[in-house]
This record gives sequence, C-alpha cells and structure tokens, in this order.
Amino acid sequence: MSSLGRWGLHAALLALLCCSESGEAAFEVHIWPERLVVENGGSRTVNCSTSCANPDTGGLETTLEKTLLEDQPRWKSFWISNVSWDSVLFCYFTCAGEQQSKSLNVSMYQFPQQIILQLQPVWVTLGKPFTIECRVSAVKPLESLTLTLLRGKETLHSQTFNGGATDPQEARVTFNSTASKEDGLLNFSCQAELDLRSRGGDILRNISENKVLQVYEPPPENQMVIIVTVVSVLLFLFVMSVLLCFVFGQHWRQRRMGTYGVRAAWRRLPQVFRVQHM
Ligand SMILES: *[C@@H]1O[C@H](CO)[C@@H](O)[C@H](O)[C@H]1NC(C)=O
Ligand SMILES: *[C@@H]1O[C@H](CO)[C@@H](O)[C@H](O)[C@H]1NC(C)=O
Ligand SMILES: *[C@@H]1O[C@H](CO)[C@@H](O)[C@H](O)[C@H]1NC(C)=O
Ligand SMILES: *[C@@H]1O[C@H](CO)[C@@H](O)[C@H](O)[C@H]1NC(C)=O
Repeated sequence: MSSLGRWGLHAALLALLCCSESGEAAFEVHIWPERLVVENGGSRTVNCSTSCANPDTGGLETTLEKTLLEDQPRWKSFWISNVSWDSVLFCYFTCAGEQQSKSLNVSMYQFPQQIILQLQPVWVTLGKPFTIECRVSAVKPLESLTLTLLRGKETLHSQTFNGGATDPQEARVTFNSTASKEDGLLNFSCQAELDLRSRGGDILRNISENKVLQVYEPPPENQMVIIVTVVSVLLFLFVMSVLLCFVFGQHWRQRRMGTYGVRAAWRRLPQVFRVQHM
C-alpha cells in the first residue's frame, strides 16, 4: 500500500518535472537487457531505445569499453567488452530539447577456477575426529556463493558468505566430524554454487575431486585381550628360556671348572706326600 502510494507520488513528480513547461507527453528511454551480469573480461550487447519519434541525440555513457554496433534513429546497439568491474551504464536520448536517461547496473562475476577439498587427517580411527575443509579460488560476488560439503550425495554442511567490497576473494568452509563406518565407504566432495539469478544470470555449479577417508577400525576389546595375553605369554616364555639358558650355562661351566679343580688337587696330592716322605 505504502509503496503504491510512493509510486503514485513519484509518477506525479516526474510528470510535473518533465511536462509542466511544454505540456507534451513524456517520451521514454529503454535499455535492454534490464539486468546484466557478465563474466570477468566478458562482453555483451546492450540496446538503447526511445519512444521519441525523432530524437535529437542519443547514446550510452559508460566507463567500460564500448563499440557502436548499429545506429538507428530510435535505437542504438553497443558492444560492451572486457567487463572487469561492476559499473553503471547510462542510456540517454534528447527529444525536443529535453533529455531522458535510464541506467543499467552491470555486475561482473567470477566463478572459482579451483575447488580444493582436504580431509585432515586422511587416516582416522573409528570414532575419532577429522576435519573436512574446502577452499575455492577468487570468487565474485561472494554473497552469491554457496559451498556445500557432501558425503556421497548427502549434504553434511552448507555455507553462504557475506559479500565485501574486496571481492573477488577466496572462500573457505570447514566442518568437524567424527569418523563413522560410512565415512570410509563413501566419497567426500565439495560443491561450489554461484546463484546469479537476482542479477539476471543463471546458477553456476562445479564440484571438487572426490576424496576418500581411510577409517581404521580397532579390533574389538575381547580380541584385544587375547592378543595381549598371547603376546605376554610369548614374552614370558622368551624371557624364561633366556634366563634358563643363562643359569644352566653358568652351572655347567662351574661344574667343568670344579672338575678341573679336583683333578688338579689330585695331581698335586702325591707331590705333597712326596715332600712329606722326604
Ligand atoms: C533494439 O531495440 C529496439 C526497440 O526495442 C528494437 O526494435 C531493435 O530491433 C533492437 N535492436 C537489436 C539489435 O536488438
Ligand atoms: C581488460 O581489462 C583489464 C583490466 O582493466 C586489462 O588489464 C586488460 O588489458 C583488458 N583487456 C583487453 C583485451 O582490453
Ligand atoms: C544499481 O546499483 C545501485 C548501487 O549499487 C543500487 O542502489 C540500485 O538499486 C541498483 N539498481 C538496480 C535497477 O538494480
Ligand atoms: C568414489 O570416487 C571414485 C573416483 O572419483 C569412483 O571411481 C568411485 O566409484 C566412487 N565411489 C563411490 C562409492 O561413489
């Protein structure tokens, strides 16, 4: 209601401004397309036209590179090239000494050339945390971007961004999760989507390479107990056998040494008797 009222007021003001002096019907200026979004460095055709039957002058004001393609009394078409920034085009015509103009916002867009997905770590134990990170190279407009982290076809996390005057710029999304069995069976991927519909464009999409998470499953607890027991017993047997070898070895050496000792004593014995006899 209020917007309608404002529109009415606006129209009345316009009528007052343009036609109060001459009393002529106002002529119109049109620009086509009504919305324009162009890829970085791209080019488009723009058409300026008027309802004035016999305009004095007309043209297009722009800071972008322009080439006049066709020049007709009631319309002119231009080739706008190398669109490298956002800008406003002004289309104007003069009719019976009066000028009218119409503006067109031109948005430049840049779809990310790279979409890089990383899983950190790549090997993870079941139930332990891991991080999914997706980075995209320079993108514009940032507020039209949505990054979606996928496991198979399922959406794990989706993020939109707040635009800034500094775009094109890189964007990043991270998501923390804990490893489940499914994580090891499905591919992870990251989808970048640039929705340019509000600016007169389409939805652009691309997807990263697939990444795989290696989920390591620890053996169940009772199995673990068996393994630990077996290892302990083997270790015990090994230690015991080493100990026994050592003890028997020592014993055998002593016995051998002991035998020699007794023999030596036996050999010495007659000598002693001999000395005693002499
Ligand atoms: C430009 O617009 C006028 C008016 O709508 C139309 O008659 C004309 O064919 C258009 N020219 C081009 C090249 O599209
Ligand atoms: C397009 O514009 C960019 C930035 O303004 C400039 O560096 C480049 O030389 C231009 N390219 C052409 C073909 O005019
Ligand atoms: C054009 O851009 C200006 C400033 O960015 C904004 O205020 C205006 O509403 C836009 N016009 C259209 C028709 O989108
Ligand atoms: C995972 O991705 C690879 C290569 O991108 C593909 O060959 C494989 O079929 C995919 N596996 C599943 C379960 O989608």
